[in-house]
Amino acid sequence: MEENHRRWFSSQALSLPVLALSLLLMLGSAACAADAAPRSAPSSLAQRPGHAAIASANFLATNAGLEVLARGGNAFDAAVAVAAALSVVEPESSGLGGGFMAVLHRAKDGRDVFIDARETAPAAVNSKDYLNPDGSPNRDTALKGPLSAGIPGEPAGLALIAQRYGKLPLRESLAPAIRIARDGFKPDARLRDAIAEEQKNLRRWPASAAKYLPADAPPVAGAIWRDPDQARTLELLAAHGDADFYRGATAKKLIAAVHAAGGNWSMADLASYRAKERAPIIVNYRGYRIITAPPPSSGGVAIAEILNILSGYDLGQLDQAHRVHYIVEAMRRAFRDHNDYLGDPDFVKMPLQMLLSPYYADGLRQSILPDKATPSSMLPAAEAAQPGMHTTHFSIIDADGNMASVTSTVNYTLGSTFVAAGTGVLLNDEMDDFALVPNQPNVYGLLGSVANAPAPGKRMLSSMTPSIVIGPTRTAVIGSPGGSTIITQVLEGILHFIDGQSAQQIVADKRYHHQYLPDVIFVEPDTFDAATTAELGRMGYRFRLGDPWGSNEAWGFMNVVTWNRSSNRLDAASDPRHPSGLGKVQ
Ligand code: DON
Repeated sequence: MEENHRRWFSSQALSLPVLALSLLLMLGSAACAADAAPRSAPSSLAQRPGHAAIASANFLATNAGLEVLARGGNAFDAAVAVAAALSVVEPESSGLGGGFMAVLHRAKDGRDVFIDARETAPAAVNSKDYLNPDGSPNRDTALKGPLSAGIPGEPAGLALIAQRYGKLPLRESLAPAIRIARDGFKPDARLRDAIAEEQKNLRRWPASAAKYLPADAPPVAGAIWRDPDQARTLELLAAHGDADFYRGATAKKLIAAVHAAGGNWSMADLASYRAKERAPIIVNYRGYRIITAPPPSSGGVAIAEILNILSGYDLGQLDQAHRVHYIVEAMRRAFRDHNDYLGDPDFVKMPLQMLLSPYYADGLRQSILPDKATPSSMLPAAEAAQPGMHTTHFSIIDADGNMASVTSTVNYTLGSTFVAAGTGVLLNDEMDDFALVPNQPNVYGLLGSVANAPAPGKRMLSSMTPSIVIGPTRTAVIGSPGGSTIITQVLEGILHFIDGQSAQQIVADKRYHHQYLPDVIFVEPDTFDAATTAELGRMGYRFRLGDPWGSNEAWGFMNVVTWNRSSNRLDAASDPRHPSGLGKVQ
């Protein structure tokens, strides 16, 4: 089999689909990393931490989660509380009008489950809506206003978590968010900046302007800001579960507002939305069990592929330049596969058995030269990932050892910037995560693929990679926002955790990223020292300072909790790049 791989990589004559098929035939029943009903290793079940830890992007949200734990809730009730509070205090990143992906670990039976509350395309989705008359991509309909919004998944996902995994009724887990929305809070600099940045768009829709520009201007530092409409929508969610949002009074208001502004949602789109439980992807790497996100996220598949490639190297024995070299080459190969094959598993047949197979990784590893970058142009073509501007991640471990790793998003800053009148709900602009116009480059010069083309009821591909890592003596709950860089941030966090780093070190580490195209290593300032940069330059790498979408914002916003099961110590850390985050142990 190795000989076959080698021949394929040197000839580059076969297409990836041909390789996929032939490998599937060759592999037969080869090891597949995604189990049907995964349970974590017994070593993680024997103990309970006795206290809890939460790290999120906003201290009010962390405190909301801790409050619900203090009322007798578990990590899953706390996750509902944190997500709902973030909808109010960090609306630029996530909210009721968006969606989330979560990995949950239930301590009592070791159940590991993935919650897919990703948005779906409405039945009336039409690729032409995302084209200008001259056939070029229309970035405005893809990113702003109701046409850019998928059917929200967040309310259904929160109701599912509360009902199947929580101990408390939604009335109790949503109480802190309702209180904050009703009584008000002081928006942090990140929210004030996001509103200032998007004010032109917010002014296009009266309900958006009324909510975010109440005095006809962005909120000022120190001023109290209230969100009574969203408080009411949250109260209805608390009283009726998700029935009101998807089939009741809120649903009617959402549809009326979307139609009035030229959107195409129907009551049936809302009524038929379902959050789903899926088997997570499980990767075993150097004695660590990594529980991560399956499609419609591309993150877990990419992480599995990268770690399978890296398992052939002793990274600890390498100098920094060679360590980065092998990691970047693995990233390059995983990202090449990522957009070519992956999409909504309910719509697309994916060669997951191949992509997750150690044998496939063996073949990829053999195409990596020890001292030289592989130009992406030398690897058969695929497409790069779509980046974004905002999203949020939080991590929770409770006193019993239940864990929630949750990444939630409205996609770009303040989503579609469209608030549905009378609901306080800011709609997402997740439709841009589809390849809206197949084979047409988007504003970033990126191509989309058929697997991720929009279709009625289909979920758009995501990079969100909420993960839980269970090692012989230590456990981590980890994730981040950051568009396509989510995947490489989580990967680097996992590698650093396995190297023994603390939660505080992991969130602070400098980051680097390669996504196949463009063929550069994206770096933060001072990610590498001069000697490493020079050595990587000799191997053929080029660098770009900043992230793939050309923004100078800090990369990501990691929120990590760790549990040392030997010393029974919990740590919670929030990314020092953003001062409003809070990691807290109680
Ligand atoms: O699901 C996705 O992959 C994107 N909507 C995430 C966007 C994002 O992370 C923006 N963050 N900085």
